[in-house]
Amino acid sequence: MDVVILLGAPGSGKGTVCTRVAEAVGYRHLSTGDRLREAVKAGTAVGREARPYIERGDLVPDEVMIRIVAEAMTSEAPELRRFILDGFPRTDAQALLLQQRLRDEGGRICAVILLEAPRDVLIERLAGRRVCRDCGATYHVVNIPPKHEGQCDACGGELVQRPDDNEATVRNRLEVYERQTASLIEFYERAGGLRRVDSARPLDVMVSEIRDLIVAGVS
Ligand code: AP5
Repeated sequence: MDVVILLGAPGSGKGTVCTRVAEAVGYRHLSTGDRLREAVKAGTAVGREARPYIERGDLVPDEVMIRIVAEAMTSEAPELRRFILDGFPRTDAQALLLQQRLRDEGGRICAVILLEAPRDVLIERLAGRRVCRDCGATYHVVNIPPKHEGQCDACGGELVQRPDDNEATVRNRLEVYERQTASLIEFYERAGGLRRVDSARPLDVMVSEIRDLIVAGVS
């Protein structure tokens, strides 16, 4: 199993980059946030458990997340287990579990890429983000607008704000990132090979830089 980890604060562009890069480099985009939102929408037991955490902007308990990621990974045939992880790991326990799983399966982390942007950029991006109610495609009202206002280019679905993109929840999500996830930067820096990418730049520049980093990490 080959894994690329994309680290970064809420709004740094992880999901946007992954959807543009994963297929080109032959990886599967595994977003824990997307998985959770699908579970909430479907009203599953996991979705019901996760919902209050997501609404507050707190992290969903590790044991739930570890189960979701393990299931997603094993649902792929062994030869297709090449993942870009978007939003996982987010705690020390999740990072350790991932290491153990890779050791057990003879897998490896090909690259750890950190997307960095100043706080005011993150807040402006989250405030202007719109997502398609039907297919989940992501836009920004100013930076990455749809062709027709309020309508998804891909499927024509209605564009809405994510419920956790309100001001109070965004503030908490940014604090939670600093408190519970930012320590992973040091963790992966010590392990060697963490690459920092300035994500406050235009999207096409970032996408091509990240694609090159992944290809270099894989070879
Ligand atoms: P999750 O969905 O992972 O949210 P997040 O980490 O807060 O990240 P975001 O999706 O908000 O931002 P992003 O970095 O993907 O930015 P995007 O590309 O959309 O998690 C949601 C919740 O689920 C968590 O709060 C938690 O409760 C739970 N959860 C998930 N994983 C968990 C885990 N492992 N453990 C525990 N709980 C977990 O971009 C943002 C905006 O900017 C968009 O509008 C985009 O169009 C725009 N944009 C992007 N790049 C650029 C650019 N270069 N230039 C201009 N605009 C840009």
